[in-house]
Amino acid sequence: MFEKLDMAPADPILGLSAAFKSDTNPQKINLGVGVYQDDEGKTPILPSVAEAERRIVSSATSKSYLAIDGTPEYNRAVQTLLLNEDHEIIRSERAVTVQSPGGTGALRIAGDFLARHFPSARLWLSQPTWANHPKIFQSAGIDVQNYPYFDASNNGLDFASMIEALRTVPAGDIVLLHGCCHNPTGVDPTSDQWEEIADVAQEAGWLPLVDFAYQGFGDGLEEDAAGLRALCRPGQELLIASSFSKNFGLYRERIGALTLVAKNSEAAARGLSHLKIAVRTSYSNPPAHGSAIVAEILSDAALRSQWEDEVAQMRARINGMRRLLVDTLAEKGAQGDFSFIARQRGMFSYSGLSDEQVKRLREEYAIYIVGGGRINVAGMTGANMDVLCTAIASVL
Ligand code: LMR
Repeated sequence: MFEKLDMAPADPILGLSAAFKSDTNPQKINLGVGVYQDDEGKTPILPSVAEAERRIVSSATSKSYLAIDGTPEYNRAVQTLLLNEDHEIIRSERAVTVQSPGGTGALRIAGDFLARHFPSARLWLSQPTWANHPKIFQSAGIDVQNYPYFDASNNGLDFASMIEALRTVPAGDIVLLHGCCHNPTGVDPTSDQWEEIADVAQEAGWLPLVDFAYQGFGDGLEEDAAGLRALCRPGQELLIASSFSKNFGLYRERIGALTLVAKNSEAAARGLSHLKIAVRTSYSNPPAHGSAIVAEILSDAALRSQWEDEVAQMRARINGMRRLLVDTLAEKGAQGDFSFIARQRGMFSYSGLSDEQVKRLREEYAIYIVGGGRINVAGMTGANMDVLCTAIASVL
């Protein structure tokens, strides 16, 4: 049977990490996969995470299964971070959360749940979006469509086209929105634009599915949740796929969550019963370690405030690298105005580099960038900036 298989293409993002690893150029730079690096080029274990792990290991008494939906402490902590303690949605218990293996796991559970119960619903993705989005939902059997998002002429948001398209999305379809730090562009709607998106969701009757993987990497933990919270109006239903890979640096622990917000607590409980079936038939029940770390940190005031400082430091470094990149490109005489990079938010920037330029950077300079020109700003350091900008200036 397997003799007949063709070779599948490498993953456009994770495949790049494998190629980077085997590159022997000592000056190689990885701006591909969205992983944070400090100024030494290392991806550290956050000190708050290390402390939580010490506590968990010394007090653990069992490795028995978790419940299908994970632990109540973790699920409560997720909702509080997304919405805030005193949010109407939490008080009225109209949100339910299942722990998931990363944000990707949350998206796939959402896809399986939607395909099973709303088989005629289509899912709308921003153009462009994370390369894995269409594949996850197509694998779940969902018809995927696009709405306009990025304006290449000014490296900003084409809000007029976006909102016009969203007005025509039929009731009962699903619209995936990036909660903050849009991947791959780094371009987000303003607060006023989020309010307009929320108006259109209500008027048109489509379901928002918010992919929220970078809370804290844009302008702050609270600030970055503003778009999501604008959608959370009384009676509004939504799905939220969230991840702690980035803001807790827990990439390999695979820890995220899917939150379903229904009109009332009875509908939410029914929703949860079906999400549990989606989990049970996929991976049965979630791994424990990542959720224990997050719950420990978020429930301990001192540890939580330490973690908030650590997130602020990562955010400041990324935004500092954005400014340094813009300045160094100008210094190297790079053709064009790159000031937009300093205005974008999160790990990524849509650099405007063509696929041909991306190829040359990789082949001639061992600089790894995702096709389409997405660069991971968090992979830049004070030490590699000069080499990087000299190379970019030379291929432009
Ligand atoms: C990325 O976009 O680089 C990250 O979300 C990591 C991944 O899984 O692709």
